[in-house]
Amino acid sequence: MNIVLLGAPGSGKGTQASLISEKYSLPHISTGDMFRENIREKTPLGVLAKTYIDKGQLCPDDVTEKMVAERLSRADCKNGFLLDGFPRTIAQAQALEEIAAVDVVLDIDVPLGKLLKRLTGRRCCEKCGESFHVDSIGNATQCPKCGGKLYVRADDNEETVQSRLDVYVKQTESLVEYYKNKGVLRRVDGDKAVEEVFAEVEKVLKNL
Ligand code: AP5
Ligand code: MG
Repeated sequence: MNIVLLGAPGSGKGTQASLISEKYSLPHISTGDMFRENIREKTPLGVLAKTYIDKGQLCPDDVTEKMVAERLSRADCKNGFLLDGFPRTIAQAQALEEIAAVDVVLDIDVPLGKLLKRLTGRRCCEKCGESFHVDSIGNATQCPKCGGKLYVRADDNEETVQSRLDVYVKQTESLVEYYKNKGVLRRVDGDKAVEEVFAEVEKVLKNL
């Protein structure tokens, strides 16, 4: 099954992707994680991506599409994949259509006004990549799941989050209508507890 996770910054794409990927044995492909890995390794792609990510803007379509095409060509994607954070523009959606058919687009819907708090309170694990929130882990410095070191993402400050939310509205939200017209969109209420959101995701996938 080829799944796309759509949703504003902080809507819970990464959190749900990790649960879906485990349960359905699908490779979790997060373009944000791929860019951040390139930034850490200081590759030419990482150096370029950083100039956009630090401002909360989208990286250029061509480099993003190339990176995804290469990833989807690998053997582990042969029986399906889970895309998290791609596509984010109509052009990217069209580029994806050239490579693979999308079976379902899960739109994780959370009122935008709730996302600033989710993102500025997020803590990510350096080792396993899992995201947490200070509301549940307090000022812990180690990952509750694997013991790795927790860090705050460089783009999770208030100013950059605001710009990411604006970019979502201007450049990505139109994909909801785009995929609705293609008959593959399923809305999931993301404004519930993580387990409840996942239960809804499971229900949608079961009824496909
Ligand atoms: P990316 O890394 O994809 O960031 P994003 O879309 O802004 O989304 P986030 O990862 O911030 O949020 P999420 O939805 O994964 O939420 P999470 O589960 O972590 O992209 C970063 C940047 O890379 C972009 O700005 C852009 O520059 C570039 N980029 C990436 N893809 C691109 C593309 N296709 N084209 C061009 N550029 C691209 O949860 C967030 C917080 O909420 C956590 O603290 C979590 O614990 C908490 N939480 C999760 N679920 C719940 C819940 N149900 N209730 C309460 N809290 C919850
Ligand atoms: Mg994410």
